[in-house]
Amino acid sequence: MAVTRDIFHDPVLATEIVAFLATKPGIYVDGTLGGGGHSLAMLRALFDAGFLDGSLLIGIDQDESALSEASEKLREYEARTVLVKGNFVDIGSIITRVSSEKGLRPKVAGILLDLGVSSFQIDTAERGFSYMREGPLDMRMDRSSSVSASDIVNTYEERELAKLFYIYGEEPRSRSIARAIIAYRQKNGSVGSTQELADIIRRNAHGGERVIKTLSRVFQALRIEVNAELDVLRQALDDGIDCLDEHGRMAVITYHSLEDRIVKRFFAEKARSDWGPKGVGLREPLAWGSVIPVTRKPLTATQQEIGVNSRARSAKLRVIEKIYHGGCSGCS
Ligand SMILES: C[S@@+](CC[C@H](N)C(=O)[O-])C[C@H]1O[C@@H](n2cnc3c(N)ncnc32)[C@H](O)[C@@H]1O
Repeated sequence: MAVTRDIFHDPVLATEIVAFLATKPGIYVDGTLGGGGHSLAMLRALFDAGFLDGSLLIGIDQDESALSEASEKLREYEARTVLVKGNFVDIGSIITRVSSEKGLRPKVAGILLDLGVSSFQIDTAERGFSYMREGPLDMRMDRSSSVSASDIVNTYEERELAKLFYIYGEEPRSRSIARAIIAYRQKNGSVGSTQELADIIRRNAHGGERVIKTLSRVFQALRIEVNAELDVLRQALDDGIDCLDEHGRMAVITYHSLEDRIVKRFFAEKARSDWGPKGVGLREPLAWGSVIPVTRKPLTATQQEIGVNSRARSAKLRVIEKIYHGGCSGCS
């Protein structure tokens, strides 16, 4: 399927997502709807294959602007989509509620998580995600949530800031940047904008290319903290796998090593059967693994895709499939 360019968000690895997920009729969940690029590609593929009548797409996003953009884009498939403002951490209860409203079994054929922020969010200065644009220190994907980047930058103690930049940004100069922020706060009262913060970082980073890396790492760390990105991811993976029907698939696209490590470990853990203590020699495991890997190694974008969509450069796609061992796949 040809992937078309989109000013809101070019869907990354869209051809692969369609090939792995949209293979049969069923309920599909796009947990990171964004501008609806992946959802549209999946709905079109389901239509082309004659599966649309038996399918429903549940699109979830915590950002109102994403939902309004996506609802426009998916208008022709309105009858086959339900868009929900919410956090994918609640994927289990959202699936249960929407399926019950539609009279469907709460078991899904496919789940997609395309993590992080959209190009639209980054490019909108007043959202405060970018060190390249002057804006408020906000970074909330869900603008009804109470904690913004400003609260963190202006209230965390030096040690907390340093830990945050080190753990969520993997930034080697975490301590000196945290120290510089505290000194700035003491002198000026508070850090007021993305550019004020970027200038503090620039003054404390090594020169050249490393400045850009440090800026990205510190901004990434703040974004992860503001949106509790890694905590919600673990929970969503667990609950999402529970909701998959037999042979249902989950596809996750990550953009940095912290996310990818969580997904990789989680999928490996779910695939492993429990053979009890070593040397017992059981004929069957105490518990079978509940998934099998569909992608042995993470898939990455082609040079051609990266050429038209630079965001695809760091993308890694992992896919698993749910298996049932003699249990009842219809039981919820
Ligand atoms: C990378 S973009 C997805 C783009 C989308 N795949 C497309 O084709 O347009 C990520 C989207 O997920 C949303 N998002 C991130 N974390 C979320 C979460 N925990 N719950 C709900 N939405 C989330 C963001 O608001 C953003 O719109």
